[in-house]
Amino acid sequence: MNSALSIRDLHASVGSVEILRGVDLDVGFGEVHAVMGPNGSGKSTLCHVLTGKEGYHVSGSALLDGTEVLDLDVDARARLGLLQAFQYPVEIPGVKLSELLREAAEERGVDPDETLARARELAERLGAVEFLDRSVNDDLSGGEKKRSEILQMAVLRPKAALLDEIDSGLDIDAVREVAAAVEEMRGPDLGVLLITHYSRILKYLRADRIHVMMDGRIVSSGGPELAEELEAGGYEALRQRLGLQPVTSAAERRPSDFFTDTPFDV
Ligand SMILES: Nc1ncnc2c1ncn2[C@@H]1O[C@H](COP(=O)(O)OP(=O)(O)O)[C@@H](O)[C@H]1O
Ligand SMILES: [Mg+2]
Repeated sequence: MNSALSIRDLHASVGSVEILRGVDLDVGFGEVHAVMGPNGSGKSTLCHVLTGKEGYHVSGSALLDGTEVLDLDVDARARLGLLQAFQYPVEIPGVKLSELLREAAEERGVDPDETLARARELAERLGAVEFLDRSVNDDLSGGEKKRSEILQMAVLRPKAALLDEIDSGLDIDAVREVAAAVEEMRGPDLGVLLITHYSRILKYLRADRIHVMMDGRIVSSGGPELAEELEAGGYEALRQRLGLQPVTSAAERRPSDFFTDTPFDV
């Protein structure tokens, strides 16, 4: 049986800078995998390259339910059932979320009326009903944008969902809600790749497997005990246990590499 996502020897570079340096990853249908890693390790780049953002030189293979997607356009990948929820969701003034869902459902070949009915039902549970008749993400708070992203994902029935720091910038109640929404979507036709910087969301949802990305590679994979190890010792302790040398020294890194918009655990 195919995996939802099967990634082999994935490399990506911008100019002469190699960002992904050989990523191998399999996410089975029905599974939720978490990718954790320090800032600047390549997590967002992995999402961008899988969804087809331009500007990277890419090699390797990424199969979505058995179909190679790396040579397809962004929209073709989306139509096949690849969905990304963004770390920084974009605002689309003038386009209502309900209209976006209807159009996207048509493109995906899913019944638009049934999709909107499900969207309303789920929106009630997510406290997001009023978002449907407003412009996409316009004037929503950080937490509301993330709920809107989850809503889109839940009703569009993707085969693989890439959730890039869906928990960043959220207070603890919102993290719990988003985790519950992801758990609710879990099912035999979906594989989820959840990118996170902190282990706190993993307290509220069960990841089948946890992968740690450092310097553009998956350096360790395991169960919940891996998140516990990171919680206790941080990325540096894991780096030392694995005997890894940092590729760039701290002095060479930009200040922005050390910060996210996520406050430290509350
Ligand atoms: N378009 C780009 N041009 C040059 N460097 C980039 C580009 N995009 C990302 N990078 C660099 O690649 C590294 C990985 O970035 P990113 O994938 O955003 O990391 P993460 O999401 O794990 O924090 C960082 O050092 C970042 O500065
Ligand atoms: Mg990122």
